Order: sequence, then C-alpha cells, then structure tokens
Amino acid sequence: VSLSQDELKKIAGFKAVEFVESGMVVGLGTGSTAKHAVDRIGELLRQGILTGIVGIPTSKKTHEQALSLNIPLSDLETHPVIDLAIDGADEVDPDMNLVKGRGGSLLREKMIECVSKKFVVIVDESKLVDYIGGSGLAMPVEIVPFCWKFTAQMLQSLFKDADCVAKLRTLPESKDPYVTDNNNYIIDLYFKKSIGDLKAAGDAILRIPGVVEHGMFLDMATTLIVAGEHGVTVKKN
Ligand code: A5P
Repeated sequence: VSLSQDELKKIAGFKAVEFVESGMVVGLGTGSTAKHAVDRIGELLRQGILTGIVGIPTSKKTHEQALSLNIPLSDLETHPVIDLAIDGADEVDPDMNLVKGRGGSLLREKMIECVSKKFVVIVDESKLVDYIGGSGLAMPVEIVPFCWKFTAQMLQSLFKDADCVAKLRTLPESKDPYVTDNNNYIIDLYFKKSIGDLKAAGDAILRIPGVVEHGMFLDMATTLIVAGEHGVTVKKN
C-alpha cells in the first residue's frame, strides 16, 4: 500500500516529537507537516507522558492550534532560548539548507528557530531538492507594504542573472495582497537559473531597504527527518 502525502507528513511529525523531553521549551512550527507534530505534543501532554512543556508558536495559526490542545504557551521575550524547535520546510538541499515561507510564516519561524538549540526539520521526500530554488517554486521574501513595487523591482534586478521574476503574493479569491501575521507583504521570487552562493544572496536581499526577512534558512537545521515510501530517515548535522 502506498501512503498519502499527508500520512508521510504525519510519520515525520510524530518522529520529531520523540526528540521532545519533559520540561523543554519547544518552538512550534507552522504548516501541514508541523501541525501533526503539534497535535502529537498536545496528545502526549494530555496523556501525562510529557509534562512541563512550554510551546512558542511560530504563527497565529499555530498559536490557535496549540491553545485548542491546551499546550502551555509563552513567547521569545520570556523564553529567549528554546531547547528544540520542530517545523516543516518547502525545500531542503543536500546540506540541510531550507526554503520556508510558502505558508507565509517565515519571519516568526526564523526568529524562533534561530535561537533554538536544536532545530528538527520534518518533510516528506517531495521536499528534497538538488539545490535551493531548484524546485521551480517560489522563494518567499517578507517586505513592508510601503512602495512594495519598488522593493519587488529591486529584488528582481538583484537576481537578473538568475532570470528572476518577482511576484506579489495575492489571495486567490480577491487578488488582494496576502498579508502576513506581522502586517507585511510577501514577494515570491522565481528563478530560472541557480542563484549561486546562498549566504551572499541572502545578505544581499537583506540589504535592500523595505525587506524584512527572506525564506532561506541557511545552516540552521540540526536534524532532518524525511518520510518516504520506503520508511523514515533521520539525518543529523
Ligand atoms: C510556513 O510559512 C512554512 O515555512 C512552512 O513551514 C512550510 O511551508 C512547510 O509547510 P507544509 O508542511 O505545509 O508543506
């Protein structure tokens, strides 16, 4: 029997929760894969198998989910050091560099996962790419709404050698701009060619005034859990 993509996401999510110990401060990721891990943490707390967990949610959506599961919550200001964060990703390269933010939550995710002692990334095997940008799907950048077309143009010109197209993310129904949890916009960058050195590209993006954060999570993941048709693998950095 072949497993659905959602079943694979669940396997990866549950596996990650094996790394959670009682008393930990845990970064709670966002998206359809992380959702399974958060559900599992809620379930283990309910059963009394885990105790004393404090969750730090990476989005308003995850905040709501965790509240509904009675997971005790806090924030980065109260808990500036996080023991372990669990989150999904949109792309993972062979060095465990990530693209995140197709779900829109990249800023809070990065703020929280940056200060996590361990960052466990959970994916089904469809997320594995040879190089970042290699899926042909978007690399998201969160920007302030002020003069967004200007910022989008700056981003597109920065990556002209990679034949970049920069598009404002919009809502499917109304075509209004998609607005993040932090009241910003998202520009999705599409590349036809490799963007080369990822660190240099990320730094150049952040130097554009108007940019808040980009969706490349470089050198951050400490553990990668991949669920596929042939089982689940755990890779440590
Ligand atoms: C949220 O903005 C993203 O960074 C998600 O973590 C990422 O999109 C993975 O989501 P799925 O698990 O739903 O694919």
